[in-house]
Amino acid sequence: MHLIIVESPAQMARLAADRLAAQLAHRPDSVLGLPTGDTPLALYRELVRRQRRGELDLSRATTFNLDEYLGLGPDHPTSYAHYMRRHLFAPAGMDSRRTHLPDGTAADPHAEAERYEAAIRAAGGIDLQLLGIGVNGHIGFNEPGSPLDSRTRVVELCATTRSANRRHFPCGEAPPTHAITLGIATILEARRLLLLATGSAKATALRAALQGPISAGLPASVLQRHPACVAILDAAAATALDPATRQAARLSASTLSSS
Ligand code: F6R
Repeated sequence: MHLIIVESPAQMARLAADRLAAQLAHRPDSVLGLPTGDTPLALYRELVRRQRRGELDLSRATTFNLDEYLGLGPDHPTSYAHYMRRHLFAPAGMDSRRTHLPDGTAADPHAEAERYEAAIRAAGGIDLQLLGIGVNGHIGFNEPGSPLDSRTRVVELCATTRSANRRHFPCGEAPPTHAITLGIATILEARRLLLLATGSAKATALRAALQGPISAGLPASVLQRHPACVAILDAAAATALDPATRQAARLSASTLSSS
């Protein structure tokens, strides 16, 4: 895994946008895998800015989001479909026929998960998968204990995730108990992975994910197996990594930003 430590979320957004732009320059009709959450917001703002200035062309890209809450339709303000429309798809003028999320209100969520996995395959697989990481080490909604060979499926969210995500829900409204998520094996099939993490709350999970043993107990640790995974962390998220790794990763960031 290639690790880069940046000074700020703004620098992370620029570096991540550069990588996405390079992917789209190489293949304008790339298939992108996208996360929601707080971490990618600065990146989405940067992508919208570049798209509006004509520095980036998302118009031919196809996107598949990592996950969606069960029971929330696209117009629900805390659904991931709503988040994506608000923060990226609408402001970047993306064609809704090319942007995909699991349908959280499907009558048969298990069949919906299978349909979604098949749709990714039919699109040729994911070229570049962006990821965040949960404080418990989840990727997508693959909670600790998720099988490393799991596919897109219905999952129950663990208490840590529901409590971390409660901040997005109006007072008194509890986050859903279940979601549809890309599986760990599905994520690993993406040709390139880009993990983004900010803030000290992620530091322990990141140390285990990047420097610990690969284990279903810490799903993000499986990223160590991927042949083309880049992780961009801010300094707070990197605090628990060993000092030599931190030093090397900082040099890597300064080399990149001066190039
Ligand atoms: C969201 C997702 C999650 C988040 C993770 C971090 O689509 O798949 O794995 O990436 O929970 O969330 P934030 O960025 O809000 O800390």
